[in-house]
Amino acid sequence: MSLLRLPGLVDPHVHLRDPGARHKEDWDSGTAAALAGGFTTVLDMPNNTPPIVDEAALAQKEAAARARARCDYGLYLGAGPNNAGEAARLAPRAAGLKLYLDATFGPLCLSDLDSLRAHCATWPADRPLLAHAEGRTIPALLFVAEVYDRAVHLCHISRRDEIELIATAKARGVKVTCEVCPHHLFLTLDSSGLGPGFVEVRPRLAAQSDVDALWAHLDIIDCFATDHAPHTRAEKDGASPPPGYPGLETALPLWLAAVSSGRLTLDDVVARMHANPRRIFGLPNQPDTWIDVDPDLVWTIRADEAQTRCGWTPFEGWTVRGKVTAVTLRGAAAYDGERVLAAPGAGQNVRESIG
Ligand code: NCD
Ligand code: ZN
Repeated sequence: MSLLRLPGLVDPHVHLRDPGARHKEDWDSGTAAALAGGFTTVLDMPNNTPPIVDEAALAQKEAAARARARCDYGLYLGAGPNNAGEAARLAPRAAGLKLYLDATFGPLCLSDLDSLRAHCATWPADRPLLAHAEGRTIPALLFVAEVYDRAVHLCHISRRDEIELIATAKARGVKVTCEVCPHHLFLTLDSSGLGPGFVEVRPRLAAQSDVDALWAHLDIIDCFATDHAPHTRAEKDGASPPPGYPGLETALPLWLAAVSSGRLTLDDVVARMHANPRRIFGLPNQPDTWIDVDPDLVWTIRADEAQTRCGWTPFEGWTVRGKVTAVTLRGAAAYDGERVLAAPGAGQNVRESIG
């Protein structure tokens, strides 16, 4: 295949840890990793320290991103037990509202029905509402969203029963979209080869039958997100390892390897990494933003050659085919295949640029 020019990729699910845990990642290193991976817009999750549940925390994060982001970005608000009104007021500044219905890294978890109802009733109908929901919390959320007649986006779907339920819901006209991450399509719990600590991720890696069901329901999967969730090697190796994998620099090569082997088409990839996330999250059209990719370049994934600060990858040593050779962000050279050229501060908040 000859060199490819694709639109800038959008990752609707990253954790760049800034503010709160800059030793794991920050806006500088995380958006450098994004550009090296071909992403020109990233939407950042609210499970920071402090969590992004009010105006003060959002303002602090806006300032951090404005100072350090090298690519474009949006910031999610987190749904807490008592912030439905404040979240709705802040909606114009946010990429969306994230509902955590199951426990994961950080304190955000909506465990009561009243807060779930309050957020579904109050968050503006035309603004993205997305959720971490696993197993039985998926039908719970879908029902409440249906009652309030609103669309929801389900993050990191990983299991057969979940994707089958979403397929049935979509066939019945339920307004639901979903994303899947590379680690849930390329790794299983039994065969990942990752040691204790390093295997930890939420949702957990699943069985081969789950992976097969996800591949079989590709038409139901709207987005390929990374859930880039960096934690350092020392933390993953420690006594209570936090869950999460880095993913920004390995996602596109893994999907392109699947294109090479005939499992996906390039159109499948572009739809799920650009057109669909742009539509679902209401992002600006950027005709002067694109990436150049050498689809035949074979290379080996090495954490010590990566931009992310976390220092490891679940795909260490994997040989992949396809590499980003250049990124152009709003007309300016942002990455040349080896070096990130966009400076900290070059990134724009997608909510500020479209108002
Ligand atoms: C994420 C993190 O570390 O912030 N961890 C993870 O295992 N995916 C949180 C999340 O998205 O659940
Ligand atoms: Zn996440």
